[in-house]
Amino acid sequence: MTDTAHDRLLIIDFGSQVTQLIARRLRELSVYCEIHPYQNVTDAFMAEFAPKAVIFSGGPDSVVREGSPRAPESVFAMGVPILGICYGQQVMMQQLGGRVEGGKISGGGGTAEFGRAYVTSAGNLPLLDGWFEAGPEQVWMSHGDHVAELAPGFEVYGTSPNAPYAILADTSRNFYAVQFHPEVHHTPRGAKLYENFVKLAGFTGDWTMGAYREQAIEAIRDQVGDKKVICALSGGVDSSVAAALIHEAVGDQLTCVFVDHGLLRKDEAKEVVGMFRDHMNLQVIHADETELFLGELEGQSDPETKRKIIGRLFIDVFQKYADEIEGAEFLAQGTLYPDVIESVSFSGGPSVTIKSHHNVGGLPEKMGLKLVEPLRELFKDEVRALGRELGLPASFIGRHPFPGPGLAIRCPGEITRAKLDILREADAVYIDQIRKHGLYDEIWQAFCAILPVRTVGVMGDGRTYDYACALRAVTSVDGMTADYYPFSHEFLGETATRIINEVPGINRVTYDITSKPPGTIEWE
Ligand code: XMP
Repeated sequence: MTDTAHDRLLIIDFGSQVTQLIARRLRELSVYCEIHPYQNVTDAFMAEFAPKAVIFSGGPDSVVREGSPRAPESVFAMGVPILGICYGQQVMMQQLGGRVEGGKISGGGGTAEFGRAYVTSAGNLPLLDGWFEAGPEQVWMSHGDHVAELAPGFEVYGTSPNAPYAILADTSRNFYAVQFHPEVHHTPRGAKLYENFVKLAGFTGDWTMGAYREQAIEAIRDQVGDKKVICALSGGVDSSVAAALIHEAVGDQLTCVFVDHGLLRKDEAKEVVGMFRDHMNLQVIHADETELFLGELEGQSDPETKRKIIGRLFIDVFQKYADEIEGAEFLAQGTLYPDVIESVSFSGGPSVTIKSHHNVGGLPEKMGLKLVEPLRELFKDEVRALGRELGLPASFIGRHPFPGPGLAIRCPGEITRAKLDILREADAVYIDQIRKHGLYDEIWQAFCAILPVRTVGVMGDGRTYDYACALRAVTSVDGMTADYYPFSHEFLGETATRIINEVPGINRVTYDITSKPPGTIEWE
């Protein structure tokens, strides 16, 4: 649990795939909230957390199954507003004296309902302010079970053809329960329900980035005192914002190490070091270890081997430079809230490793350092807002993600300096094209990969035998799934022509139209 001076809302997670979206909707309303799995929410926890309101998430279980998740009884006695969603609605009904019937999934005879539905108003309620003004509201249903009997004190305020109890409320206790998911995109006006809920719960919307900045700076000063902090600066948004914030809190007690593995994009090292060292006056060590990395990667073409080499060297190099900073006791990391949320696991088993991502995990214990993680409470877009608040340039904050192993994983097969140089030039032209056409912000990530194949071409009167490159551009929300970006043929043709004309070493350009899954975003 985090110490915060803000009004807090507690989301009890029953394991829905979309619980994080509830938190997103609330944060957009400047309301501070935390997600905690139902197993951890004990009576003692509730008393300490002291929420101003509580939301029960959806979940995959069935309340009619013996031993299925429940909310702690004390939550109903705290006198704070509660909103139950889907499984959360059914838990509320069951625990407060109503009855839930199993649907097809849990073996009962009731009606399951998945997908789009329309809810019709059955009474006025502050929670529904602004709803039903233009008739029934589109909502997203995803339930096997359904409420069969209301708990005492509850009344129906909305119905759908398959959910006669779509919206329920006990206004005397400020308990609300909906069968659908207002947090998802397919409930287009769902955000309004959250807005109404936090309003009636008395939240003032005090969770702003300006306020957070002040509070975070105080907390960093308290934690660090007069000790030194080191930070692995990658140039990515998270580490950059963390570094800028810590610098504002403790100034030159912070030293950043920028590990340059020689696998960066064109001018990247210059830009990152230049901005932090020259414009923001941070102490930045530019650890140029190109020789070391490229030397060890020589002759290697297996993707996992390459990743492992880079990960190991990165840690060695960081440690070597950090050891030179006398008296460092803290390591700064740009950990975000989605990394912190303990998920409710129903499947149990470990997931398959598709790629071994590299990060500086494990370093703090190895080096005997304590962690400073000032972004632990934030979602990605809040980190961007904080970055703007701290004066980082918009162009920097909006940059596409760039993987830790850098261009190594965009260079299938053996990595050579010559191929890296060609790749850097092609990538720079491609990104320039995207910017010129005003498409950069519509795309989650765009880059070139240089393929381990040379093909025959003709330029002027001569034969060429050069590399082929693939352009990749995807849209995504979180990098977990992705779709290829639908460039126009004109754009693709113009870009291919520019790359072939401007980048010696490439005579063929292809566009990768694989989505994720089944592909991944990077080529390795
Ligand atoms: P994939 O290729 O797995 O990539 O679909 C998903 C997202 O993760 C980024 N990525 C990495 N980021 N270290 C990182 O910091 C890594 O080792 C790494 N591998 C992939 C990738 O760029 C995309 O945004």
